[in-house]
Amino acid sequence: SLIPVILAGGKGERFWPLSRKQRPKQFLSLDGSGKSLLQATADRLLSLAGGWEKLWVCTSSLLAEGVKEQLPQLPVENLLVEPEGRDTAPAVAWTTLEIAKAYGEDSIVGFFPADHWIADEKAFQETLEAGAALAAKQPSIVTLGIKPNYPSTGYGYIEQGEEIGNFGGFPAYAVSRFTEKPDRKTAEEFLATGRFSWNSGMFIFQAGVVLKELHTYAPEIISLLEEKGVAAYSELPKKSIDYALMEKTQLAYVLPVSFGWDDLGDWNAIERLLKGDKPNVELATHVGMDTQGAILYAEGEDEVIVTIGMEDVVIVRDRNVTLIVKKDRTQEIKKVLELLRSNP
Ligand code: GDD
Ligand code: MG
Repeated sequence: SLIPVILAGGKGERFWPLSRKQRPKQFLSLDGSGKSLLQATADRLLSLAGGWEKLWVCTSSLLAEGVKEQLPQLPVENLLVEPEGRDTAPAVAWTTLEIAKAYGEDSIVGFFPADHWIADEKAFQETLEAGAALAAKQPSIVTLGIKPNYPSTGYGYIEQGEEIGNFGGFPAYAVSRFTEKPDRKTAEEFLATGRFSWNSGMFIFQAGVVLKELHTYAPEIISLLEEKGVAAYSELPKKSIDYALMEKTQLAYVLPVSFGWDDLGDWNAIERLLKGDKPNVELATHVGMDTQGAILYAEGEDEVIVTIGMEDVVIVRDRNVTLIVKKDRTQEIKKVLELLRSNP
């Protein structure tokens, strides 16, 4: 069996202004289902966990109350609250330590982002069971590889090596290289070889295996956490698990997956989910003349957005803020937020 952990401490800044400090992306319902991304993630992991007692969540103190509100059935002991976010390496290290204490070093743990969309839940669960079987069989950090369809610079890239076996109908491969968020040119080269998949950001492993790997590749993180527990946080570096461990470990494996996946990374993902054959994505009352390819969102029910002659823009109105950005530049919202912080 698998102990699932949801990583829910991110800021989701690329969905600003909808995502604000205490209401990040994972708390929003972006697919029109009424369930937040976090709630949907918990739902699809519950049957694997075998109930709420074995589901864990790691988040930051700023978001802890929100997580409790959204997941009222989560046992408080299973909610790990970081004093402040230090990116995913400390979150994975600390949670893995706690799970090893609670259930033993040989327990199989799976880490899951809180903000992904999955099309086929049954296929998703079968894939995770295959991953758990591989992790139980040999020291491994199992990744799930997504077939890439454009040279994204926002993902990790996994180069597939030799096939090492078959788990419940899923072939598994050694990872010959893991490269986090390459530049455009490198991403294009990777894609052209046909050997790379995108890292889905989900990881499955035996707790003890990753603790050992962290001692080799990120001792500055794991030693302090072992010594001081959560009190170590203020001294920990900000680093993602992809850079801290995945680019370095020799124990990475990949299962190619086909369950239909989207990292709801920015506003364009909403279009992939909701647009269909309509000219615009309208999450607001919209009166448009000669407007297409627009993504429109307004918070209040009686808000109206009126456009004339617009193409490929995102227009978001939320309380006191209006954002207007060209669709191909939504990645830069993070940068504009830095600007806003320095000139409030
Ligand atoms: N507890 C905690 N603490 N969670 C965090 C923290 C933190 O400091 N920082 C981020 N998270 C959570 C986010 O909420 C999200 O659910 C998950 O960890 C991944 O963080 P992101 O910040 O969204 O990572 P990314 O999208 O840039 O990159 C990762 O995911 C990609 C796929 O979506 C990497 O693993 C890439 O390699 C991968 O392709
Ligand atoms: Mg992400």
